[in-house]
Amino acid sequence: MSNLEPKLTIPQDILTPKQIVTELNKYIIGQDNAKKAVAIALRNRWRRQNVEGDIRQEIMPNNIILIGPTGVGKTEIARRLAKLAGAPFIKVEATKYTEVGYVGRDVESMIRDLMESAVKMVKEEQEEKIKTKAEKNAEDRILNILIPPVKDDDAEEEDNKETREKFRAMLRNGIMDDREIELEITQQGPNGMAVMGPMGMDDMGINIQEMLGNMMPKKRKKRKIKVKDALPLLIKEEADKLIDMDAVLKEALYRTENSGIVFIDEIDKVAVSNSKSGGEVSREGVQRDLLPIVEGSAVNTKHGIVHTDHILFIASGAFHVSKPSDLIPELQGRFPIRVELNSLSEEDFVKILTVPENALIKQYQALLETEGVALVFDESGIKQIAQTAAHVNEEVTNIGARRLHTILTTLLEDILFNAPGDLEDMNTAIDEKFVRDHLDPIATSSDLSKYIL
Ligand SMILES: Nc1ncnc2c1ncn2[C@@H]1O[C@H](COP(=O)(O)OP(=O)(O)OP(=O)(O)O)[C@@H](O)[C@H]1O
Ligand SMILES: [Mg+2]
Repeated sequence: MSNLEPKLTIPQDILTPKQIVTELNKYIIGQDNAKKAVAIALRNRWRRQNVEGDIRQEIMPNNIILIGPTGVGKTEIARRLAKLAGAPFIKVEATKYTEVGYVGRDVESMIRDLMESAVKMVKEEQEEKIKTKAEKNAEDRILNILIPPVKDDDAEEEDNKETREKFRAMLRNGIMDDREIELEITQQGPNGMAVMGPMGMDDMGINIQEMLGNMMPKKRKKRKIKVKDALPLLIKEEADKLIDMDAVLKEALYRTENSGIVFIDEIDKVAVSNSKSGGEVSREGVQRDLLPIVEGSAVNTKHGIVHTDHILFIASGAFHVSKPSDLIPELQGRFPIRVELNSLSEEDFVKILTVPENALIKQYQALLETEGVALVFDESGIKQIAQTAAHVNEEVTNIGARRLHTILTTLLEDILFNAPGDLEDMNTAIDEKFVRDHLDPIATSSDLSKYIL
């Protein structure tokens, strides 16, 4: 199993900062500073790992806070980053956590989740590597049942081998799919039975369910099963045998500690400005609990102790009620890089509507295409939508690009409702006139737009 030894190194094909920004550009318009900052931070993880000598231990990640009004792309950046990171990455909401000692999740659990995602990542990589071998082993097991191997007679053995290869070809062509075989399969432990541990067990990284599962003797049971159903079961069994879980955990731990990234969203929600609202104690508690983790401490997980010193933290928040300076000072100091995201303009909206691969307009076009309806947005229409969005954001409240969602649903409501049967025209042109006709009556009345847009 030597080829499965963990590499304990970093993949060399990770994106450069410029490439990261290019990837982010496919989904997020503008916000260049934020994109740059996260791209540099990401690449720095990799650079650090390639540093030789003792200085490497001294290089600490520069944690980042993204600050910007609501709906300008903070969470979206995190979401897209997750796919690019090539490293263990989790995104969490600061508001999900409670102070240690209170009911709820404590902040250390984010490190456990990060470790868990690393284990999953490494395991999947290994599975991919041994896939062919596991498949072959599984085939062999089925062939053993269909044509039991002979040992004693040389001539017969040759024969037997030939038949087996013929059958193997048939197996691969799916000819044997419906043939029934008798097979001994491991039965899962008590499945779907939720076992509640005493409170706080999760905090120690102990999983009662899994413990019980391992204690129960695994039952092996003979049953009749079709070849096509047996194959996936056997492949899984063989894969489990081939994968060295100890090695996987070792690699996962290494990656978590050296390249793990935690994105903490809504950090502003645990910052308290001086107003005397309830729940302050607990929120400040969450901040205080965060300190040692961000600073570097040892967290117990069920796969071992994770040192958090070199994990990168990216926090983000709108900070429109509280300010970054409302965070407790120690925490502010641990996020040295501040990046502001800009509020979005009419021109940004035009791009957001059209450029991203998942742009809203493309989404609606795809939806209606299923009904045979062709939505055609012309330039004047798009400009008018953007202008209306900017206008309402200014007049009512600025909710950033989220305004485009509400505006488009209102604009297209009739079409979405009447398709496919009751449309006058299956090719609907959305131009300036169409947009004005549908939106102006609402957008120009601030009372109406407050409720509808
Ligand atoms: N700069 C942008 N480019 C493209 N789409 C954007 C941009 N900003 C926001 N959006 C879109 O607007 C929606 C909301 O954005 P997002 O969730 O990132 O907001 P946010 O900045 O996290 O706001 P909040 O502070 O309220 O959490 C998403 O659907 C996103 O696709
Ligand atoms: Mg958000």
